[in-house]
Amino acid sequence: MSSLIAPGPAFLPQRLFAPHTDNVARLFPEPSDRFHPALEYMIDLKPDQGNFLADVLAGLADRPRSLSPKYFYDRVGSALFDAICDCDEYYVTRTEMALLQDISADIAALTGAHANVIEYGAGSGWKIRLLLQALDQPAEYAALDISRDHLEHAVGALAQDFPAIRIGCICADFTRFHHLPDDVAQGKGRTLGFMPGSTIGNLDPEQAVHFLGNVKEQMGPGGALLIGADLKKDHAILQAAYNDKAGHTAAFNLNLLKRMEQELGAKLDQGGFAHHAFYNEQAGRVEMHLIAEGTQTIEIEGNRFTFQDGETLHTENSHKFTIAEFQDLARKAGFLPEKVWTDAKKLFSIHFLSVPQDG
Ligand SMILES: C[S@@+](CC[C@H](N)C(=O)[O-])C[C@H]1O[C@@H](n2cnc3c(N)ncnc32)[C@H](O)[C@@H]1O
Repeated sequence: MSSLIAPGPAFLPQRLFAPHTDNVARLFPEPSDRFHPALEYMIDLKPDQGNFLADVLAGLADRPRSLSPKYFYDRVGSALFDAICDCDEYYVTRTEMALLQDISADIAALTGAHANVIEYGAGSGWKIRLLLQALDQPAEYAALDISRDHLEHAVGALAQDFPAIRIGCICADFTRFHHLPDDVAQGKGRTLGFMPGSTIGNLDPEQAVHFLGNVKEQMGPGGALLIGADLKKDHAILQAAYNDKAGHTAAFNLNLLKRMEQELGAKLDQGGFAHHAFYNEQAGRVEMHLIAEGTQTIEIEGNRFTFQDGETLHTENSHKFTIAEFQDLARKAGFLPEKVWTDAKKLFSIHFLSVPQDG
């Protein structure tokens, strides 16, 4: 892994892009400066800078207390997420991958040749391999994720395996990412967004519509989005999926406290909080919380937050959808639902949404 670590920003040439990307630090393509010889670009919008402290302080002061799930994904959190994907109870990854394989010919036909693929929340990049293999001569793949280390490692390896495709990385918060940088999506085919894993379910419905509206603008007229959405189902399946016996989901949730200690100097008792996940039927979502066992305090930079026994910090929502609910969200964002597939057990859905030619 160490050979894949890019030199720090202080050693890199800096260049300003257009105003909307004015904090872009770019790795120029001189061999010595490049992160990985197979990567075409690395665009780092530094999504974490300053925000973690401010968001933790605001989230702990708020009622109910909450923190965005995007903060799960430091290097350790991303590795823990991979472990979750391997759990028997977590049906999402294996179901979506099998479905992607089954429908690969349909996706290729709908997308057409020489596509530019932009993935939102790329993670370890297993699913994109299936998509790139399925598509007809894809021109470009841009992987966007908030977790820079994980992104660099995964996409560097991918680029080696797909030398005919122009492959690059964008480290950014997709909820604050409004325009594709000029150098991205240069192939002559359709621009196709890809968002597997039901990451969309981490956003509240209003945020999801807003986010999808941005993606629609980024794909442009004639573009499309291939997106995975987890379906409403038997609560016992959901309960098991977010409370795996090996404890990976619990470790993933509790890792937030470690991040607070390590990165913000927080004083807290990690053993005083437990993982708590349940299906909230009324809201149609699985909720994850960190629940205080006994009275607990978290101190950060002179701010002291007290949790009474049983009080929680709400750390994630995973919204579950019916097909109609998800298509409704997509339409509100300006997409046309063109095709939807589900697995035989109706656990998961994949939607092909298109952007009308007139915008
Ligand atoms: C649920 S995981 C899905 C990973 C992978 N796409 C999959 O299908 O298995 C969510 C991914 O999105 C990334 N992510 C979460 N919030 C993000 C944000 N606000 N901006 C960019 N990436 C984000 C995480 O780092 C993680 O890789």
